[in-house]
Amino acid sequence: MPTTHRFLEACRRRPVDRLPVWMMRQAGRYQPSYRAVRQQVGFLELCRSPELIAQVTCAPIDEFGFDAAILFSDILVHLPAIGLDLTFEKGEKGKGDGGPRISNPVRTRADVDALKVPVPSRDLKYVLDGIRAIKAGLAGRVPLIGFVGGPFTVASYVVEGGSQGFNRLKTMLYAAPEAAHALFEKLTQAAIVQIEEQIAAGAHAAQVFESWLGELDREDLERFSFPYLTRIAEAVKKTGVPSIFFATGMSGHLERLAGLGFDVVSVDWRIPIDEARRRAPGVAIQGNLDSTVLLGPTQAGVDKALGVCRAAGPAPGYIFNLGHGIQVGTPPENVKAVVDAVHAFRWK
Ligand code: CP3
Repeated sequence: MPTTHRFLEACRRRPVDRLPVWMMRQAGRYQPSYRAVRQQVGFLELCRSPELIAQVTCAPIDEFGFDAAILFSDILVHLPAIGLDLTFEKGEKGKGDGGPRISNPVRTRADVDALKVPVPSRDLKYVLDGIRAIKAGLAGRVPLIGFVGGPFTVASYVVEGGSQGFNRLKTMLYAAPEAAHALFEKLTQAAIVQIEEQIAAGAHAAQVFESWLGELDREDLERFSFPYLTRIAEAVKKTGVPSIFFATGMSGHLERLAGLGFDVVSVDWRIPIDEARRRAPGVAIQGNLDSTVLLGPTQAGVDKALGVCRAAGPAPGYIFNLGHGIQVGTPPENVKAVVDAVHAFRWK
């Protein structure tokens, strides 16, 4: 793996030959090849098979020519190891796609104290073996991004018992702040050991998915989130690989996010990318095409993507991505057209 790949160079804000592009959820149900695998195995079963992890992670690199692969896994895979009973429900026709369910959610301080910190080499060996299998499959073509969930986002599932909003967790912040801090502390430790082990197994970069952090106001971010995120950023920094922070609905806090210690900040589509770059000159910026655009006419997606490339400007330190993950139902040819258009884009 050359250490000068354009994705890693852009993370370091160094000049690149062309814009690097990858897309969150680039492996998933919009791909016929992924759906074929899922006909055979359940989602968690897939996440626990190193061979299938490698197959599914490498498929979008082969199919679309992305500049980085992202480990196929989930931000919740460690929950059984910390003591929570996790399942993924099958989507019911007409009722969405199903989602995570935790039958023993965390509601009290005693529940928090009972949570364990996972030992990845024992509890998540399939993830680490998956990373080694992916690297064999990639054969040095592109770097591999490892990832973990941010403490607030993981806590939202752990406390609510699934994708059920944020009211219980936010109530815990005010009604039982010590329990909330104890929970964030455990989830931070769990995130740090996982990302350290993923990097030790061969991940070339680390992304923290803190998707729902935009739920909090500034005061609560400062109390309940930023101190924990800073520790995760510091842990990654010690390993020497670049770190990427991703959240949605956080453009109001961009300057503060840029100071947390991550090398790259991923922004959603709610802020123009030129404004994001102006406001956060000390970090690389990743983003921010609205993933919904990819559902429409191919040319509309290409035009919007080129608009983002132009707005990002010629200064080093920009990585093309979406503002959030690729949506189910996205035509694969739209993804391919956007990747090709970004690669063909030149300043001059
Ligand atoms: O980006 C990638 O290609 C890597 C794989 C990846 C998945 N989940 C696979 C997945 C990553 C990085 C994640 C992160 C993740 N998981 C997040 C943060 C990113 C975001 O989208 O905000 C969150 C919130 C989760 C939790 C989660 N996993 C939910 C709520 C769901 C159900 C909703 C859905 O999209 O189906 C999942 C399931 C999941 N994770 C799928 C995939 C491909 C779909 C499972 C299937 O095949 O049926």
